[in-house]
Amino acid sequence: MKVLVTGAAGFIGFHTARRLLERGDEVVGIDVLDDYYDPALKRARLDILQPHSGFTFVEGDIADREAIAALVEAHPGIRRIVNLAAQAGVRYSLINPHAYVHSNVEGLLVLLEAARRLPGFEHFVHASSSSVYGANTKLPFSVDDRVDHPVSIYAATKKAGELMCHTYSHLWRIPTTALRFFTVYGPWGRPDMAYFMFVKAILESQPIRVFNDGDMRRDFTYIDDIVDGVIAVLDRAPADQGKAPPARIYNIGNHRAEPLMRFIALIESTLGRKANIRFEPMQPGDVKETYADIADIQRDMGFAPRTGIDEGIPKFVEWYRGFYGV
Ligand SMILES: NC(=O)c1ccc[n+]([C@@H]2O[C@H](COP(=O)([O-])OP(=O)(O)OC[C@H]3O[C@@H](n4cnc5c(N)ncnc54)[C@H](O)[C@@H]3O)[C@@H](O)[C@H]2O)c1
Repeated sequence: MKVLVTGAAGFIGFHTARRLLERGDEVVGIDVLDDYYDPALKRARLDILQPHSGFTFVEGDIADREAIAALVEAHPGIRRIVNLAAQAGVRYSLINPHAYVHSNVEGLLVLLEAARRLPGFEHFVHASSSSVYGANTKLPFSVDDRVDHPVSIYAATKKAGELMCHTYSHLWRIPTTALRFFTVYGPWGRPDMAYFMFVKAILESQPIRVFNDGDMRRDFTYIDDIVDGVIAVLDRAPADQGKAPPARIYNIGNHRAEPLMRFIALIESTLGRKANIRFEPMQPGDVKETYADIADIQRDMGFAPRTGIDEGIPKFVEWYRGFYGV
């Protein structure tokens, strides 16, 4: 099976590509290696993928039509695409909104256009986000809830992406699945995310910024559970039964809304150090609570998250200490 994994040098793309390679799939990875966060971390992830004989890496932009056309021509036989390339991060979308439309909307469109022309194409899996729930107050967040009140451009591009996948399933009968990821964390994680910044700051005896006076809850999902879900979904494309388009949306989370202060306490106890906390007001674009209803993916895919934060945070800290030598 030949799979195109976009964002292969990113956090989730790297882990997904690695798992696919380990089970014997061929992976063509593409990533633009932008400097939204340290590209050295992206290159270090690629260094782990490169020795796999089934791995090919293309440095390029998914929004570059010519580059994608050249990629599919140079790598015939791609049957599946996992689109994990994106401009991620809620806060940066207030600073550089254009980057989000470029990668998350234009880039997705270029990939969908390529997919619809690929012979024997089986499944397009796209990374959406819990952010689409925006100002939703009903908990847990269900895929049946209305998601037309985004509170950031990041969220708006994720919602647009889901709609675009649905459109391509309708027009061209391409099976698509959009996965709404809930706060993914773990080894090789993203330096712009709170858990990563907290560990770094505490080890460097720097203060940490905690928003909304710490009154936040997040459904933290460990990376291995996410990859289990992505691969289970990838292997089961929605069937085309002729009428409704073969398009699906799932939440993929841990189904636990953890208080942020408990998360911080766990980081402190793992590091054996106290955090110097600076409480600050809620940030624009942010949401107070996320909590995933995962009944659909449990029922259809047997998805069962196995790693809680008590196990996952120490695993992240162990990786962090090893990778940065601290
Ligand atoms: N990590 C999370 O908690 C989380 C939560 C919800 C949704 N998501 C979504 O999951 C996906 C993967 O996120 P991640 O955490 O691995 O982020 P990441 O930033 O680590 O990975 C994204 C990768 O895509 C690459 N990229 C960006 N724009 C590109 C472009 N135009 N062409 C080619 N490559 C490009 C980046 O260089 C990066 O390596 C994203 O769509 C993100 O929005 C992540």
